[in-house]
This record gives sequence, C-alpha cells and structure tokens, in this order.
Amino acid sequence: MDDFEVKYHQQKRLIDQLMHALARVADENGRYTKEHSERVALYSMEIARRMGKSRGEQYEIYQMGLLHDIGKIGIPDYITAKAEGLKDNEYNLMKKHPMIGAKILQDITEIPGLAVGARWHHERFDGSGYPDGLVGIAIPEEARIIGVADAYDAMSSERIYSGVMKQKKVREEIERGKGTQFDPEIADILLQMIDDDKNYVMNSEVPTYIIEEYFTRLE
Ligand SMILES: [Fe+2]
Repeated sequence: MDDFEVKYHQQKRLIDQLMHALARVADENGRYTKEHSERVALYSMEIARRMGKSRGEQYEIYQMGLLHDIGKIGIPDYITAKAEGLKDNEYNLMKKHPMIGAKILQDITEIPGLAVGARWHHERFDGSGYPDGLVGIAIPEEARIIGVADAYDAMSSERIYSGVMKQKKVREEIERGKGTQFDPEIADILLQMIDDDKNYVMNSEVPTYIIEEYFTRLE
C-alpha cells in the first residue's frame, strides 16, 4: 500500500467515525439510553435486509438511521430530555427537529437519503404525523422503516418493564400501530424480528450482533 492508499482508507474510516460522532451529538441530551441512534440504524438495516434490499441500500439506510435525529441539537436540552408531560409549546418546538435535521443534512449530496430520513421519520402512515402529514406510501420507504425502528427502540428503552414482559408489551404496541402509525408490512417485519429474538437480546445497549452478522454476510 502506498501513502495514497493509506490516506484513502484513512479517509473512509474517518467518514464512518464522523457519522458516529454526529449520531452521539444527537443522542447526548435525549431521553433514551445512550446509543439510541446506533440501535435505530441497526434495526433499520436489518428490516431493509429482510425486505430484500441490496447491500448498498441496506448500508445507506443504516447511515440514515444514524443521523435521523441530528436536528435535536437545535432543540433545548430540557425539552429533549423530558420523558413525557411536554407542554403544548414545548411539543411544538420538539416537532421542529425533523426540519432542522433536514436542513443540516441538505447539502450532503453524496447521500441524499440522510435528509430524507431526518425530515420524514415522524410521519405516520395514517397521515397524522409531522412535519408534512404525508400519508401511506407518500412517505419515503426509508423513512417508514426508520419510523418503525425508532418506535421500537423508544419503547424497548423504557425502563418500566424488562425481559419477556417488555418484549410482550412492545410487540402489542407495534401490532396496534399497524396501519395507523406504521406501514403494516414494515411493522410485520419488525414483529418477526421480535419473534426471532428468543433470548431478548435485540434491545441490549447496542445490538452489535446485527452488525457482526451483516459484515459476516459481506465476506
Ligand atoms: Fe426523532
């Protein structure tokens, strides 16, 4: 390897590290346990794999998942850290994070999906989401995937239940949200992932086994 190749590989690793650093910025003041964005990215990638997406598409969805909440850096910490009980004006501020994220990411033309994931991950299948109130398949598919993955992580990070109980409750909520909050087909894929997760390890801090499996498949 000459010095150019060394630099080239260094740059590639640097990009990956910068993406993760940005994801941590988004998670820093959130209400969820750390590494929320990393988990959302991994679940999204696994959903995409089960949908038959190409490896390149799977990886792009992973990157979109990493940065989906980057707009939260534009929202005051005391709001993003609140578990519940947001006042109307606080909730209205919170609802600005998708647009802020899309603005931050809009010039990254190499991966246009990054801004897509940020802008539309809080849309709901029945049209009652934000910021644009898109309905059904008008919501970009990647954003529908991230939306399901995000909801799964939000619920499985709640500390009220644990283990089997948590898994059962979360499963019920995902089932209930089919067609209202979630794209029913994508929700079904996540339900299958929950059912396959017999040892309840999917919601561990960072489910690295997903990425290990991914890279094994690449070999
Ligand atoms: Fe969000």
